[in-house]
Amino acid sequence: ASIDWSADAVEKGGYEHYMLKEIFEQPEAIRNAIRGRVDVERGTAILSGLGLSPRELVEFQRLLIVGCGTSLNAGLVGEYAVEDFAAMLGEVEQAAEFRYRNPIVGSKDLVVAVSQSGETADTLAAVREAIDKGAMVAGLVNVVGSTIAREAGRGVYLHAGPEISVASTKAFTCQVAVLLLVALKLARGRRMSREVGMGIAGEVLRVPELVEKVLESNAAIADVASHFVGYEHMFYIGRGYLFPVALEGALKIKEISYIHAEAYNAAELKHGPIALLDEKMPVVALLNRGPGQEKTVGNVEECRARKAPVLGVITEGDAEAKAACDRVIEVPECSHYIATIVSTVALQLFAYHVARLRGCAIDQPRNLAKSVTVE
Ligand code: G6P
Repeated sequence: ASIDWSADAVEKGGYEHYMLKEIFEQPEAIRNAIRGRVDVERGTAILSGLGLSPRELVEFQRLLIVGCGTSLNAGLVGEYAVEDFAAMLGEVEQAAEFRYRNPIVGSKDLVVAVSQSGETADTLAAVREAIDKGAMVAGLVNVVGSTIAREAGRGVYLHAGPEISVASTKAFTCQVAVLLLVALKLARGRRMSREVGMGIAGEVLRVPELVEKVLESNAAIADVASHFVGYEHMFYIGRGYLFPVALEGALKIKEISYIHAEAYNAAELKHGPIALLDEKMPVVALLNRGPGQEKTVGNVEECRARKAPVLGVITEGDAEAKAACDRVIEVPECSHYIATIVSTVALQLFAYHVARLRGCAIDQPRNLAKSVTVE
């Protein structure tokens, strides 16, 4: 059969690739994901699909998040947020490992299964295991009516719209936005004050606009990317909330540009990986203003002392962070937990342009499938 290229072009809405189209759809996707779910007045989230009574909300002892790939990285932000906001035990588990470990899980756990497709076999197996063991399971799923959504029986749909590109973009940022709302809800059911809750709710509402600002830097990011096309390895470093961003940034570059990339917690670098640094090993450093930033700047200095070229993702106008790096991508100022979304969008564009300049088949990377329904 022949391919109708003109129809294909229409499908991509004028973008060269689905991935780029979906990156640019993020402000709207996130708006849809959070619509009707943020109660600024009461400083909380409305997530009726979870079907949890106020009493249940306080009785859970742990939020256990399971997922694979990009969804797993989003889950890690959820773990940090629930501990940070709700002072509640949070844990993220690779869905594939979960079931083989005879995991300790039961009625005191709220298990959230994160999945764009709702069909990932490993995640589905984890859902079944958790249900068998008596946990309350909720799906955080994009595809309506998918297997995980149905079997979990409760949850929050992402409403991100269809994601065609194999490399996940808008599903990730919507997952993170919704996980922040889940953490906010758990926090407000516990000890968080209304005032603090209002602050977080307000920040979540700003996300679509902040992402729009990042998208305006597309040309500048493409230019930065052109300087990293020739490398075969990269490190991504970040600490705290920015560690999951490093993981997701490295995953994107691996998936679509085939550059070998590893993500490290910035502090971990000195415990081994630093041995690999030289002028052929660029380091992408997450340097948004916030807790621990000076420490990561210190790590960057260690990298540059070993001649590794450093690309920093920094807060707009942060002259000190800029001076510490060889090149920078500037993103708008925001709370550190929101920087997880804002800086990820910058790294999505970075990976996209590196892959494009390397001539890669961005929407159909080799060896990968959009949804893996076998174990
Ligand atoms: C596959 C895809 C990844 C995706 C993962 C989980 O491996 O290639 O991009 O993150 O599955 O998919 P899910 O649909 O469960 O989020």
